[in-house]
Amino acid sequence: MAIIFDADRKIFTIHTKHTTYQMMADAKGYLLHLYYGPRTKGNMDYLLCYADHGFSGSPYAAGMDRTYSLDALPQEYPSLGTGDYRNYALDIVNANGTECCDPIFDRYKITKGKYSLQGLPAVWAADDEAETLEIVLKDEVTQVEVHLLYGVLEEADIITRSVIIQNAGTETITVKKALSACLDFVHGDYDAISFYGRHAMERNPERVPVGHGTYRIGSRRGSSSHQYNPGVILAERTATEDAGNCYGMLFMYSGNFVCEAERDQFNQTRFQMGLSDELFAYPVKAGAEFTAPEVIMTYSDQGFSKLSRQYHNCILNHVCKGKYVHINRPILINSWEAAYFDFNGDTIVDLAKQAAELGIDMVVMDDGWFGKRNDDNSSLGDWFVNEEKLGGTLGQLIDRVNAQGVKFGIWIEPEMVSENSNLYRAHPDWALTIPGRAPIRSRNQLLLDFSRKEVREEILKRICAILDQGNIEYIKWDMNRSMSDVYAGNVAYDYVLGLYDFLGKLTSRYSDILIEGCSGGGGRFDAGMMYYTPQIWCSDNTDAINRTRIQYGTSFFYPTAVVGSHVSAVPNHQTGRITSLNTRGVVAMAGTFGYEMNPALLSSEEKEEIRTQLATYRRHQELIREGNYYRLSDPFQEEVAAWMSVAKDQSQALVSVVRLSAEGNPFGTYVKLKGLDAESFYLEESTGNRYCGMALMQAGILLPMATTEYEAYQFTLKKVQDA
Ligand code: GLA
Repeated sequence: MAIIFDADRKIFTIHTKHTTYQMMADAKGYLLHLYYGPRTKGNMDYLLCYADHGFSGSPYAAGMDRTYSLDALPQEYPSLGTGDYRNYALDIVNANGTECCDPIFDRYKITKGKYSLQGLPAVWAADDEAETLEIVLKDEVTQVEVHLLYGVLEEADIITRSVIIQNAGTETITVKKALSACLDFVHGDYDAISFYGRHAMERNPERVPVGHGTYRIGSRRGSSSHQYNPGVILAERTATEDAGNCYGMLFMYSGNFVCEAERDQFNQTRFQMGLSDELFAYPVKAGAEFTAPEVIMTYSDQGFSKLSRQYHNCILNHVCKGKYVHINRPILINSWEAAYFDFNGDTIVDLAKQAAELGIDMVVMDDGWFGKRNDDNSSLGDWFVNEEKLGGTLGQLIDRVNAQGVKFGIWIEPEMVSENSNLYRAHPDWALTIPGRAPIRSRNQLLLDFSRKEVREEILKRICAILDQGNIEYIKWDMNRSMSDVYAGNVAYDYVLGLYDFLGKLTSRYSDILIEGCSGGGGRFDAGMMYYTPQIWCSDNTDAINRTRIQYGTSFFYPTAVVGSHVSAVPNHQTGRITSLNTRGVVAMAGTFGYEMNPALLSSEEKEEIRTQLATYRRHQELIREGNYYRLSDPFQEEVAAWMSVAKDQSQALVSVVRLSAEGNPFGTYVKLKGLDAESFYLEESTGNRYCGMALMQAGILLPMATTEYEAYQFTLKKVQDA
């Protein structure tokens, strides 16, 4: 039993294998948060502190008791208008224009299995792996009900939270803010760690103290964004990679979000996450409901490393879906950096021939195959094959590729329309626009209004007509601009639900096709998308040195199995940097692996090296995908980037290291390993040396002396019986 209700004291206790979460509906019906942390026993209402604080009022139900204030007590779901002046999770505008909701405990339900959410992706689990707690709070004046949902995955140490606002009243209300999770801490010093970035430089970790006032990050771009990822860690000030208390919130949603952390007047900390309240005001009619997407929470008492592995496990086993999650993915070569828009059917067939010669599984025809698209200024929406460019039908091209023994994949960007397209000329009103205003252009394209069913249906019809033309085994789903021209308060949310509806239909109709998500690289790299697309192109930046940092930041929440990563040409197209083929291969192997270059331009030595690279990846891909992932260095601070994958049974490991800088008169560089069996010996394949697991973890390995800049190394370790 993961969820326990103490009926006398109205205390709810959630236990996972290593954590406990507790809350209490007090005598006045307010749901107070008591605890989240390492697994413990007993009731923790003794932590509540009552005192008469000036300018912190009391709800009427407290009578003349001036020591009871929601401005000071830890709350489970704080609501605006209840006398709590801190950041709130809920803001409802009632039919009469008043802005208040006073949710009081009404009832609860505990059920076997994990809840699902109408129209939204959510963590999934077998019935015997999860339990659900639903606590219903009710506003007596308006009859609005707030259903707090808790999904408990005991073994995985995961608690999910979501909220449904049910309008059981008689008039329409407007939801102005409905976050999904709130954690109140009555004491402690905390830092917030977020992952900021920009196009081609995503997910840089930034750690800042949570001080008085509000720390707030989020997205108002309509997608989860390159700029701030919807995963944030709240860490005790002393927490490090391997020690200390830290809490994660990961939003399973692909649109606008907000994460807030606040230290209040009494030095208590509130940490919350959910849908952004900006560009948002959602009308809910009498009898209808509004569902907030899910936040995935976990806690680690051993720093960020353990927190990350809990998220990796959750994403791989309870977020990603479909047949590709746990099998070897096709190793692909993509036409984008090989040819950009400058290709025809023969170029693609040539790539397939090269792929066959090297042992690459699949060719992906990227942007430029439809309408009149020879640059990025036209044709989005015109999902009709440019047969003139391809020199025949799509089916014929796919047959020519398949005839080489190579699979075929294709790029699409269904959410977009170019003004220079037949679709736009026929339906200019299908693009997101604010009536009476000219729209904001980005990459010279506009966003289709996916909140509208007829728009989605027409695009789905066109995309299906393409996919039905031949043996397509992979789709790269792109989204190359941010949302603007949000013409109403429901649009940004309904757009994302429309996107999920589309993806749901596509994945059920084509369950054998692997879909890789993309948004100018990693602009929509989130757990919501991962539910439909088990891999996402991590960044448009394919430079191996930049990638060590991007992939490091990405690894805090996301497993390598979802990270789209390719070897590209040098000088690198984004940075101009030259790195060796070996270094590029080592870095790309921390992901789904593939190539993004024209092999015809390579020497026969380089081709031979690629064959070896492919063999190395194939040998380790299961370990990389399914193993425990450890960060061994911080590439923003240290002279090397280092990481490793360890088999769940600790029988083998793959260590990868990249030198980030080269200095004169160098001294030895050491890297300490992690996650091995301390008592056992390991054989390192390339040298034949045997090391004790403890020695590798405590003293580390000595890297070969550097001979050139940006060198990379891989060490393969296998457990052996004795020294
Ligand atoms: C985005 C993607 C690239 C490529 C181009 C095509 O930028 O991230 O990989 O597909 O679009 O226009």
